[in-house]
Parts: sequence; structure tokens; C-alpha cells
Amino acid sequence: MVDVVQQTSVPSYPMRRGACPLHPPPELAAMRNGPAARPVRLWDGSQVWLVTAYEHIRAVLGDRRFTAVTSAPGFPMMTRTSKLVRAQPQSASFIRMDDPEHSRLRSMLARDFLPRAVEEWRPRIRRLVEEMLTEIAASTPPVDLVATFALPLPSQVIAFLLDIPDDAHAFFQNRSAILIDRGYTPEQVKAAREDLDGYLRELVESRINKPGSDLVSRLVVNEVQTGRLTVEELVPMCRLLLVAGHGTTSSQAALNLLSLLTDENLSTQLRRDPTLVPGAVDELLRFHSIVQNGLARAATEDVQLGDTLIRAGEGVVLSLSAGNRDESRFPDPDTVDPRRDARRHLAFGHGVHQCLGQWLAKVELEEMLYGMLRLLPQARLAVPFEELEFRHEVSSYGLAALPVTW
Ligand code: HEM
Repeated sequence: MVDVVQQTSVPSYPMRRGACPLHPPPELAAMRNGPAARPVRLWDGSQVWLVTAYEHIRAVLGDRRFTAVTSAPGFPMMTRTSKLVRAQPQSASFIRMDDPEHSRLRSMLARDFLPRAVEEWRPRIRRLVEEMLTEIAASTPPVDLVATFALPLPSQVIAFLLDIPDDAHAFFQNRSAILIDRGYTPEQVKAAREDLDGYLRELVESRINKPGSDLVSRLVVNEVQTGRLTVEELVPMCRLLLVAGHGTTSSQAALNLLSLLTDENLSTQLRRDPTLVPGAVDELLRFHSIVQNGLARAATEDVQLGDTLIRAGEGVVLSLSAGNRDESRFPDPDTVDPRRDARRHLAFGHGVHQCLGQWLAKVELEEMLYGMLRLLPQARLAVPFEELEFRHEVSSYGLAALPVTW
């Protein structure tokens, strides 16, 4: 790739978190006050620009001169797996496309994920939450809230969206976990992706033969059968919903529950006034920023970003966690304040690729907090905070387990 800037000491990225696992690496705060973009070195030795300030991140994500296509020259390869995905552009989903292709495909799904459409699922999500928490409350503590609640809930919600039979849930959870985790070899990831695509292809074909009332059936009837969408495009679309919506929401849910259990100011305020829950969910999305290593783009033209010239063919990484702790946008950024208006946070990205499932994720996260306040009000950590195992190696930051007692 093109050399970014010849500098003698280029820091490695991602950096390690400091003493508190709930805060992003401290170097990011220092970088925010420097130039608009700083060169950093990725795992494979390549250099890219790192952007850390809120306004600069929004500027890049809102600028069509930066591409999301991973095969573009200079595109940052954040992991070994991203290199592998780059080698298979034919099965890319629209998160890795630019407009007009991206918007053609995204628009087919857009109305299913509008706030009004998502509100219709709220009662069903609430029932799922209640069933899970009632079962947890009836069991003998300690219980791991990651395994019993934060992981299965988002996967069941997506399974319900795509109308996937109950007996396939374990298969889905396992394969999508491999796709989002860094602990697997590129070969294992490739195999999991092929497995998942094989299953999803069968699912699409079964809906072609016998459409139901689920999202896949609607896409088959409205888009495939009218010639606007091919089966080859629909399969990665289903995979994207599954992968983008599962690990992210699970990780965020686990960290939200941890905050509820350990942040007294937060739990007292929410208990006193549960109407603060929706605002608290946005604030927790900002605070935890689980897409911990940020988003990748490459410049397709020379772009002046503040004081930095980014040349065509150079890669850029946008640190969402740094942007969400930018004190010029969010005063006292390292504190969780459920009364703060955090709605313009960057946790769902910004611009044309801004998270399609954000309203669904928020309903799930809200219902999980309401459920905890009502059905497991006495829950507390079953181990000291220092013994919790945080998942530093995965792209969505989270917890390996959250043991609670009551
Ligand atoms: C895109 C975060 C939940 C579906 C994104 C992006 C981010 C993000 C940062 C932008 C990626 C980019 O610009 O390169 C999150 C977080 C979630 C969450 C933090 C939960 C807390 C969901 C859910 C779904 C979903 C529940 C759907 C079931 C998508 C899709 C895209 C996307 C389809 C691609 C949008 C596009 O390219 O136009 N998400 N997401 N996400 N997300 Fe989410």
C-alpha cells in the first residue's frame, strides 16, 4: 500500500486498554488533541491514518470520497480475517459496498428496521426477556448472565426475524461467533462462512418454494421474484443481518448489565425513574462503544481532513470509542450520565452505512434493562470486578461471562 507518512515512531494499533477495562486506551485521548489524523501501524506492518476526534470521524464517515469496499487500494486490513474476506469479494454484503450498489440493497431492508416497524416487535421481545429472566430468577445462583441472557436474546430475535427454526439456533450462534471472533484461523472462519451461506441458501430456497410472513419471504416475493434481487445477493444480506446483529448486541447487552450492577449512580437513577432507560441505553452505547477498534475506510481521492492531507489510496481507521469520549462533544465523557442527551453518539457509525439495526438493538437493550429492574432487582456481581474476563481480542468488546447472584 501507499506509504502514509514516513515517521520514525509510529504506534501500533489497536493499543491496549489501561488499568480500567471500561475505558478506551489512554493514548487515544492524547491523540484527540493532536493533528486530525495520526499514522499508526496495523498487525501486518501496514500504516494507516487513525482519526480520534468526534467531528473528524463524522466528516470522514459522511464523505463519499472514502470507500467501504475492502478491495480498494490501501483499505486497512484490521485482522487476518479481513484479508481473507477481501479475497472473496463476490460474497461481500452491502456493508462493504459503496453507493449506488449499497443503497440499492440497503433500501430493500430499510422499512423493516424503521422505528415504527421495530416497535411492533417490542411486545415479543419483552416476552422473550421475561421468559429468560423468570427462568434465571427461579434457578440457583450464581448464574452467568452472558450465557443465559446477553448471548441468546439477540440471536433469538434475529432467528425470529428470519423465521429460523429453534433447532438451528445453536448452529447459528456457533457459526456467527466464529465469524466475529479473532480466536479462529482464517480457514476456520472461511469454513464457518461457507456453512452459514449453505444453510442460508437452503433457507432462501425453502421460502421461494413456500413463502411465509417473515423478512426473507418478503424479500423473496417483492425483490427476488420481481427480478430486482438475486439469490446470490440475498444470501450475504441474511448473513449480514445475522452477524452484524448478534455479536454486537450481545456484547453491548453484557456491558450494560455490568454497568447496571456496578454503577450505583446509574442503577439508583433508573430504579427511581425507569423513564430514563431509553436515554441510558444511548448513553451506555456511547460509553462502551463496543466496536472497539473502530471502522475502516480508504480514500479514493486526496482529501484535506483538518490539518492533515489524506491521499488517494491511503487507509483510514475511525476510532468510535475515542470519538465517543471527546470532551468537546460530551462533557465529562468518562462518566455514565443517564440524563445526558447522547443520541448523536458514534456507536452505530455515521453516514450512509450507519447501523441499519440500531432501532432494533435499542429496543432489545431497553427491554433487557427494564426486565432486570423488574424481575432481578436484587442481582449483584458474584465475583469481584477484578476477576471479570473482558474480551479484548474480539471486534465487539465484551465480557466472557457475567456471574451474578441475588
Ligand atoms: C452497520 C454497530 C446492532 C445490522 C453498523 C455499523 C456499526 C454498527 C458501527 C457501521 C459499519 C460501517 O460503517 O462500516 C452496531 C452496534 C449494535 C448493532 C453497536 C448493537 C449494539 C445491529 C443489529 C442489526 C444490525 C441488531 C440487525 C439485525 C447492521 C447492518 C449494517 C450495520 C445491516 C450495515 C449498514 C450499511 O452498510 O448500510 N452497525 N450494530 N446492527 N448494522 Fe449494526
